[in-house]
Amino acid sequence: MKIKKAIIPAAGLGTRFLPFTKSSPKEMLPIVDKPTIQYIVEEIVASGIEEILIITGRNKESIANFFDHNPELEYRLAETDKKEELTMIEAINNMAKVYTVRQKEALGLGHAVLCGREFVGEEPFAVVLGDDVVYNPQDPALAQLIKVYEETGTSVVGVQPVPKSEVDKYGIVAGQQLSETIMDVVDMVEKPRIEEAPSNFAILGRYILTPAIFDILEKTENGAGGEIQLTDGLKTLLSHEKVMAYAFQGRRYDVGDKQGYLEATVEFALRNPELKEEFGKYLKELATGF
Ligand code: UTP
Repeated sequence: MKIKKAIIPAAGLGTRFLPFTKSSPKEMLPIVDKPTIQYIVEEIVASGIEEILIITGRNKESIANFFDHNPELEYRLAETDKKEELTMIEAINNMAKVYTVRQKEALGLGHAVLCGREFVGEEPFAVVLGDDVVYNPQDPALAQLIKVYEETGTSVVGVQPVPKSEVDKYGIVAGQQLSETIMDVVDMVEKPRIEEAPSNFAILGRYILTPAIFDILEKTENGAGGEIQLTDGLKTLLSHEKVMAYAFQGRRYDVGDKQGYLEATVEFALRNPELKEEFGKYLKELATGF
C-alpha cells in the first residue's frame, strides 16, 4: 500500500531549550531563515507525501499560522511589487495539505502519534519528528525509508550509529543484519544504560508504521520519563509483526538540543549561496582568535 500520509509530532514541551520554549515552539526555531518545521515538511513533500498532520499543543499556534494564508502580508507584497517574496510565501501555503490537531497534554511521543489515529485510518503512514532535520537533497531520508517499506511491507524505523557513550539518550535497536543498511529488529530499548545497550544503532526521528501500532499505543503504559513512549509501543509491535531498522544516509541534526541547533545553523548558513563566502570567512577569522 502506498504511503500517503505523514504525522509530525510537535507538541513536546522542549525543556532542553528553555527559556525560548516557555512561549514559542522549538519547531519554529529558525535555521538561517526558515523555521525548522518547514525543512521537515519539505522533506516529506520531496518524499511524495502531500497530506500532513502536525500534532501541536499549548503555545504552538504559530505553527498552524505559518502554513496558513496571511492576507495582509500577501496584499502588501503584491502592492509593493515584491514578486519574489510573494511567490515564496504562496509556495509555503500551497506546499502540502497541512492539518493540525492538539495533544492536550504532552504525555509522550507515543501518545502524540496516537492523536493522529483518525487522520491516518487503516493505512501505513510516516512519522517525522518536528525537531529532527536531516540534510540529504539528493535522496530525502523519508524517501529512503519508504523504499524499504515498499520492498519489505513491514514497519521501518530510521536509525544511525551513535557513539557508545551516547546510547543512553536514544531508543536503541538490536537484531539481525540483513544487509549493510537493513536490520531485522528483535529488540528495542528506550534510553538504555551504556553497559546494557544491545547495539549503538539509535532510532532517529523517522518511521514508517503499520496502523496496528494504534491499538498497541492505546494500551501502552508510561515508560521512561513517565511518558508514553513510541519505542515501548514498537517493542510490543515486534511480537505481532516484523519491524526493520534502516540506516538512512544524511546529515542529521537534533534541533531541540542547543548544540544540534547551533550545528544546523552554521552548516545551513555555509550551504547558503548568499551567505557562504562572507560567513565562512567570518568563521575562519573567529576560529583563529580562539
Ligand atoms: P523530544 O523528546 O525531543 O521533545 O520529542 P520534548 O519532550 O519536547 O523535548 P525536551 O526533552 O523536553 O527538550 C521529539 C518530538 O516529539 C514531540 C516533540 O515536539 C518533538 O518534535 N512530542 C514529544 C510531542 O509531540 N508530544 C509529546 O508529548 C512529546
